[in-house]
Formats: sequence, structure tokens, C-alpha cells
Amino acid sequence: MSETAKLILHGQEIDLPVITGSENEKAIDISKLRSTTGYITLDPGFKNTGSTQSAITYLDGENGILRYRGYSIEELAENATFLEVAYLLIYGDLPNTEELAYFDESITHHTLVHENMKRFFDAFPQGAHPMGMLSSMIASLSTFYPESQASNRSVTDIEKTIHRLIAKLPTLAAQAYKHNKGLPVMYPRNDQSYCGNFLQMMFGLPTEDYEVNEVVERALNKLLILHADHEQNCSTATVRVVGSSQANLYSSVSAGIAALWGPLHGGANQAVIEMLETIRRDGGGLEKWIDKAKDKNDSFRLMGFGHRVYKNFDPRATIIKVAADEVLEALGVNDPILDIAKELEQVALNDEYFIQRGLYPNVDFYSGIIYRALGIPTDMFTVMFALGRLPGWIGQWKEMTEQSEPIGRPRQVYTGSTSRPYVSLTERG
Ligand code: CMC
Repeated sequence: MSETAKLILHGQEIDLPVITGSENEKAIDISKLRSTTGYITLDPGFKNTGSTQSAITYLDGENGILRYRGYSIEELAENATFLEVAYLLIYGDLPNTEELAYFDESITHHTLVHENMKRFFDAFPQGAHPMGMLSSMIASLSTFYPESQASNRSVTDIEKTIHRLIAKLPTLAAQAYKHNKGLPVMYPRNDQSYCGNFLQMMFGLPTEDYEVNEVVERALNKLLILHADHEQNCSTATVRVVGSSQANLYSSVSAGIAALWGPLHGGANQAVIEMLETIRRDGGGLEKWIDKAKDKNDSFRLMGFGHRVYKNFDPRATIIKVAADEVLEALGVNDPILDIAKELEQVALNDEYFIQRGLYPNVDFYSGIIYRALGIPTDMFTVMFALGRLPGWIGQWKEMTEQSEPIGRPRQVYTGSTSRPYVSLTERG
């Protein structure tokens, strides 16, 4: 007999189905609760609400486990290429040689963006934040490829949209950077790897040859894999909800980029470096900052600390911390910020406030330090996160579409005025 949970409402017993996931995760299915009892459930921030059943990413926050389609993040970060991981997330399995060759070839040959898009960039003020530009540019791709929006879009149309997005996001991200700095745009190069091509578009100049540094390329590959998916986080949930209205993939991902930008989500990597810089300039001890973070009357938070689901450690942060040491050493970079970060981590990890609340460094705490060492400017950090998260957004959008999920539309408990008559402006005075 299938498991059920019992809810007692006004003395009446209601049986609710229990759903069990493949890792024995449990959920109570309340989808019929309102139609049978008139009640809804209330859960601001969806802290305890599952919005879908998904076969993409498994996350055990208590034990610091993260797996994409069953493969551990540690193994993937160590051995795979970002395109292999992208394929895995989107199609469900690691590609064989032939599948990978086709995927790689298709991505490589969609990297150019329409020349008209240059004029969009020209209209942005110099110094415009690259995330603002990127979100707009990705949404505008749908106007160049209207078949992505067609109600009768075919599987081939969807495939093309997916490949175009993966191919064009690095091009547009690098162009956003070049525009921000007032530098000439570099075109994509089809003889480079996915990461190598992005690096040459970012750092290359038409006046000189650019050689991709292998250490930098490998580090970037690892960082992108670590960010590639994270189940139903804020931006991914956004992509699924926007996509659930049958909006096209470009617009759904553009909305995801906007959601990622906030400092509580992907924008934290920029905020961490800004915080560490402030601490360095301040020159005083760390206690002051720890005290500020603990003070409920102070809006300061220790950026890069805490996570909605990880309460012991974030496995991505563990990998990134080791990688930060390796990359800085290999590139001969000595960044005082890294020492401040490590010291801050130690102080916080031994402080009761942080221990009690299960606050540990998250993926963003050390990633910015590597990005800095790679020469990536601070306001591009969240763009780097978006590059990494793209296959996750696509895989989740595809799964939502294939599962024919209903339009995302939460309920609410209304707390405003009860009915009252309209009063004319004369009477209101
Ligand atoms: N510094 C100080 N106190 C904190 C912090 C922090 N970074 N994070 C959480 N707390 C406290 C919070 O004040 C609350 O205390 P109390 O129970 O006394 O009211 C308690 O810890 C629980 O926090 P919460 O805000 O209810 O937890 P949440 O699950 O809603 O928020 C979070 C998670 C990531 C938004 C939050 O920890 C935070 O703001 N961290 C800093 C921003 C950050 O690093 N974001 C990147 C997240 S990882 C990348 C990604 O996937 O987005």
C-alpha cells in the first residue's frame, strides 16, 4: 500500500499521498488540498516547498553532497569538460565520442551573433553593468530566431535554440565586457575550445596575438562545471516559471540571468570581493566585521557565507578553495585578499553565531578570488556564474517542458482591506 500522511483539519482526517524520490527524499503531495478542503499551504521563500519532481541534480545539504545526473561534482570537476557536463545535464547521460563531436561541432558553428546586435551594445552607456546588458541581449536573441517562440516549434527548433544559446552566451558575455571597457570586440574563433574561445574574446585584442594559458583554461573549465546546476535555486526556479507560460527559451534564460544578478544569489561573488576589499582598506581586525554581521540592527551580512540548503559545508566551496590556492600559485599571483578570506573563514567557523545557524562559506566565497587571478574584473563575476549555470537552466527548462508542467502560479493569503466603496476625489479632499 502506498504511504500517506494524515492531516486533521477541524476534526476531519485527510489522507495526503507521500512521494518518495530515488534517494529516498520524502514529500507530502498537497496539490489537491485546496480543492478538497479550501486550504492552501503557506511557505514564504518556498523554504519547504518542492515545485517539481526532477531527475537532473541531487543535493543533500546536510551531508554536503551534490551530483549531476548521479555523477559526483568532485569527479566531474576533476575529469570532465564543461561541454560534456552541459550535454549530461541537458540530455541525461554523458555523451559518447560521436555525440560529443556532434555537440561540440554544432556549438562551435553557432558562436557568431547577428551584426545588428552591435548597435544594441552601442546604445548602452559606457560602463553599463555587463549583467544588465547580457540579460537584454539574451532576450533579444528571440527576435532574431522567431521560430523559438512559435507555438508549433519542432524538436529541431528547440535543439537549435539550445545549441545557439550555449554558443552565443560566451560571445555576448565577452562583448558586454568589451563594451563596458570601451575596447574593440573580438570575434569567436572556431579552432579554440569552449573556454579557450571565451578567453580570447575577453582578453584578445586585434593588435596582438593572444595565446590561451592552459592553467587559466583549466581553471575556467572547473569553475563553469561547479556552477552548472543547483536544482531549484532562485534563478532556475525563475527559468522554469517563466518557461511554464510557454515563453521561449531565450526569454526564460534572460529572466534567469536577471534573478541571478541579485547579491543574495549569483551577485554574491561580486559582493564578496567588494566586502574583502573594504575589509582590507579598513585595515582593522576582523572582529568588527563579524560583529556587524551578527548585529540584527546592521544590514551587513558576511557575503559568501550561508546557504538555503547547505548547513554543514558547500562541496563546491571545498573544491574552489583548493583550486584557488593552485591557480594563484601556478599564475604566480599573490593576492592579500585570499589571506583575509581564509582568516575570516576561520574566525566565522569558530564563532557560535555562525555555528548555531549552520553558516559556512558557499560557492561564491572563493570563486571571485580565482576570477581575479584570471584577470576577470569584478563586475564580470556574475556573468561568469551565468556562463556556468546556462546548461542547468536549459536542462531544467527542457525537463519542465517535457513533463508538460502546468503554468507556475502560486497562491497567497490576502491581508489587505476588505471590500469598501469607491470615494470620489472631491470627497477625499
Ligand atoms: N551573514 C550573517 N548572518 C547570516 C548570513 C550571513 N551571510 N546568512 C544567514 N544569516 C543568518 C540570518 O540573519 C538568520 O539569522 P536568525 O535566524 O537569527 O534570523 C539565519 O542566519 C538564517 O538566514 P536566512 O536569511 O533565514 O537563510 P536563507 O536560507 O533565507 O538565506 C542566503 C540564505 C544565502 C540568502 C543567506 O545565507 C545570505 O544572505 N548569505 C549571504 C549572500 C550569499 O553569499 N549568497 C550566495 C549564496 S550561494 C550562491 C547561489 O547559489 O546563489
